[in-house]
Amino acid sequence: AARTPFIAGNWKMNLDHLQAIAFVQKLAWTLQDKNHDFSDVEVAVFPPFTDLRSVQTLIAGDKLELKFGAQDLSQHDSGAYTGEISGAFLAALDASYVIIGHSERRQYHGETDEVVATKVAAAHRHGIVPVICVGETAEDLEEHGPSAVPVAQLRTALEGVVAGKEIVVAYEPVWAIGSGQAATSAQAQQVCEALRAVLTEVLGDEVAAGTRILYGGSVKASNIAGFLKEPDIDGALVGGASLQIEEFASIARFKS
Ligand code: G3H
Repeated sequence: AARTPFIAGNWKMNLDHLQAIAFVQKLAWTLQDKNHDFSDVEVAVFPPFTDLRSVQTLIAGDKLELKFGAQDLSQHDSGAYTGEISGAFLAALDASYVIIGHSERRQYHGETDEVVATKVAAAHRHGIVPVICVGETAEDLEEHGPSAVPVAQLRTALEGVVAGKEIVVAYEPVWAIGSGQAATSAQAQQVCEALRAVLTEVLGDEVAAGTRILYGGSVKASNIAGFLKEPDIDGALVGGASLQIEEFASIARFKS
């Protein structure tokens, strides 16, 4: 199955809703100026929760081809969970995607592999595609080698998958995030190949062949093409560089 490359911009805790509107407008113009072909490369932004309504209104109103998603969701659908956001609310905003299990949530908010699995199930209950993040720390790498930790994380996360529903996997070595020190494309390919083997084992050949696996960790315009040349890397989850319009647009245009 053909996998449309996917360039995803995780804004993390940056840009308020007014800044988000200006940013998305300018990003859309920049991509348009560069004649970006959205049938060749899908582009999505992942703003903070408070920006989602503005971003949705802008994208729908101006019929922009950009997609958007949230950076997290609750594993619960409603009720006494102060501060949490339901997948139902995200679905009501037409969010296409939700990032689940980002290493910053695992590290600072105690998200375990089991919680990640319940959040994957929650996304699927509401028709939202989960972007499941996995990746090893520098210590994991030293102790267990390159693939063991991300493979184990993915295996548990897949317990939440509802049969027949789409997922995206993002491999983000923690040591490469925000460090300026990206993995080499060969290193990333090695792990992404192992992750695809897990998809094959758990979800079958056809699903594995059709599922996009992204690389994340210090992706920029100058290294994206190398990652995308690898057979098991289908796009990127971009942090810092997704906040720079020209740079992010160039990443989305990795083919030229
Ligand atoms: O979700 C994005 C990643 O954490 C990568 O962040 O591109 O700033 O290294 P970075």
